[in-house]
Amino acid sequence: MQAFLSAATVFLLALIHAQEALAFIECSVLDYGAVADNTTDLGPALTKAWQECVIPQVTTTVATDVLLYVPAGNYLLAYSHYFLIVDTVTFDDAANWNLHIAGDIFLPFNPSLTGTMLTFENCENILLNGPGAIYGNGYRYRPGGDLTLYPSRPRLIRFQTCNNCEITAITLYDAPMFHVTIIGDNEAHDMSIIASHIGETDGFDMSGNNNYVHDVTVENGDECVTVKTPTNGFVAERITCRYTAGCNIGSFGSGATGVDVQNVYYSDVTISNSDAGVMIKSYPNCAGTVKNVTFTGFTLSAAAYPIYISAFWEGGTTDTGTLQISDVTFENFQGTGTPTRPAVLLDCNKATPCKDIAFSGISLTDTKADSFTNACGSGLSGLSSC
Ligand SMILES: *[C@@H]1O[C@H](CO)[C@@H](O)[C@H](O)[C@H]1NC(C)=O
Ligand SMILES: *[C@@H]1O[C@H](CO)[C@@H](O)[C@H](O)[C@H]1NC(C)=O
Repeated sequence: MQAFLSAATVFLLALIHAQEALAFIECSVLDYGAVADNTTDLGPALTKAWQECVIPQVTTTVATDVLLYVPAGNYLLAYSHYFLIVDTVTFDDAANWNLHIAGDIFLPFNPSLTGTMLTFENCENILLNGPGAIYGNGYRYRPGGDLTLYPSRPRLIRFQTCNNCEITAITLYDAPMFHVTIIGDNEAHDMSIIASHIGETDGFDMSGNNNYVHDVTVENGDECVTVKTPTNGFVAERITCRYTAGCNIGSFGSGATGVDVQNVYYSDVTISNSDAGVMIKSYPNCAGTVKNVTFTGFTLSAAAYPIYISAFWEGGTTDTGTLQISDVTFENFQGTGTPTRPAVLLDCNKATPCKDIAFSGISLTDTKADSFTNACGSGLSGLSSC
């Protein structure tokens, strides 16, 4: 009896504690004009609830203390109209709160819709979580697969100059353009992106210092989890990519100077039916540095270019580039490429060869012979040492 009582007391105390932990403030969009009828624009309600309910009530640095809440139901997200401003939704100077999306959000087809649907700018300690979803209806912006008809079609989510933010447990479907762009020092994890198998549908485009992406799945026809410049410190782990362009670095566009990507680490990545496993993509007129990059533990099946460094991605022939790619390690790659392409293809600048490219445990089948141009390193026969 004594034991039972004390167990009950412990249980009660735990309950009381849980109640206390649940004492958050909830700002529901339904109280600020949203209607879960998949017709009323959710944008204005998001902005209004944030301005009038969230901002005034944030008093701690625990993001989950104040929720901007989208309850279960179907919502249309078109354009935000708040006072006289008509725009996509931007949370500027946002700090210490949680956008909690339990509902399903749908984008309409609207040819004049452009920009990013949900932007967090100059933000700090924001949690964006599910269990809801955003349906981009991207296929309607690309009739017959035509990417040129609506070239400025909308993107879904952007963290612009944000730190200590987290996006998780939300599912993103078929953005008209890119899905998640993160600039800063943030974390994306335990979520999926599922889109058409077509270009310009990037999954996660990451730049900044010490971003961390883990336990995510991307199915699309473009970048899976990709590092952009500038980046200093990046880790990606337990990534699954289907029909993607791979887990890449770049692309650095024609004339991009000041490229600066360093200290990048990818581990435990599964890639199937993709244009590439891993690529570092640039033009011969790029300038800057890519260094100290590790790709380890890749399982590929039918990846067109399993390992590919190209200074001539999308052309350019003047071979005077000064982008220095060095200290790149590929280890433990297994699985299949495609019979018409090399397992490893290094196509670097003559003026600035790729240096210290190290390979170990590369076991890829169903490929052509490796090909190395203007590159040195270790671990593969035919690759000259530096
Ligand atoms: C909501 O509306 C969108 C487009 O306006 C449509 O594609 C979608 O199927 C609708 N969702 C539901 C659950 O009816
Ligand atoms: C190389 O990058 C890794 C992260 O992948 C980091 O831990 C390590 O310190 C870096 N090495 C140097 C020499 O900066």
